[in-house]
Amino acid sequence: MNQLTPIDRDSLWGGAPLSDTEFREIAALLHQEARITLPPQKVTLVRSRLSRRLREKGLKTFGDYIALIRRDADERRQMIDLLTTNHTHFFREQHHFNHLRNEMMPLWRDRKSHEPVRIWSSASSSGEEVYTIAMTLLGQDVREAQWARGANVQLFATDISTEMVAAVRRAEYPKSHHEQIPQPWRKLWTKDTRDGFAIAAEARNLVTASQLNLFDRWPWRHKFEAIFCRNVMIYFNEKAKAELEMRLVAQLAPGGALYMGHSERMVSKAKEFMIPCGHTMYRKPEDRA
Ligand SMILES: C[S@@+](CC[C@H](N)C(=O)[O-])C[C@H]1O[C@@H](n2cnc3c(N)ncnc32)[C@H](O)[C@@H]1O
Repeated sequence: MNQLTPIDRDSLWGGAPLSDTEFREIAALLHQEARITLPPQKVTLVRSRLSRRLREKGLKTFGDYIALIRRDADERRQMIDLLTTNHTHFFREQHHFNHLRNEMMPLWRDRKSHEPVRIWSSASSSGEEVYTIAMTLLGQDVREAQWARGANVQLFATDISTEMVAAVRRAEYPKSHHEQIPQPWRKLWTKDTRDGFAIAAEARNLVTASQLNLFDRWPWRHKFEAIFCRNVMIYFNEKAKAELEMRLVAQLAPGGALYMGHSERMVSKAKEFMIPCGHTMYRKPEDRA
């Protein structure tokens, strides 16, 4: 019996086949645009996520699609949206929010100056991370919220995906996600809507969302008291990780905290400038600018 090649198998499923060379070209373009590394075992994922786009554009082959993304920047952005993994949830890796609440907030509360408290969710996906930060800062009762109300808290959410940035701005989520938010935060800082729930205006108003590729020039003219860069480093190679770590450390204010994802660690020389302070958490020394 004849063996089916991967390309024959693809043809039997319907839709255009994706050759190894075409996969490598798409991977190279994604790396060039977003620095995301696609290992060869992702070929099926790439084919299935992009096939719909080929149909929408009336393209017959991946060769035609590659020619299109080469010449069309908007189409490349669509490709990034389709190929990035946006999985996230509220209060993900709760120990980071405990640290924020128990170790960082008291420092900010005690500050004499009225400097803003700025926190960056740097691969925010659809916003669950930044709204968890907002709810943590606002606290568990209305009395506690007085501090965030008076403190000039500024939360920034950025993501490479324009669709994700739009989701942060909408701040609306399906009912099935409501239980990810423990009481009393859920009761205080969310509101039921017809289809699910929305983040309350007081939490939403703390947040500014914008599109940003972590490897482009950053627009910041200030440093951050805390940066969340979680569950995105895993998509980058060692060189990209090292470059990003150095830039993140430089963007932290003295004493600032850096939070990384559960399977991520600082891997570069940048970690010499930071003090580990728990699982996937680091602080910049107070005396380092
Ligand atoms: C798995 S989600 C992580 C969401 C959230 N930080 C968390 O931990 O729950 C990864 C996000 O990183 C974004 N991303 C991937 N490459 C990026 C890049 N080069 N610059 C900015 N964001 C990027 C993706 O669009 C995606 O929304």
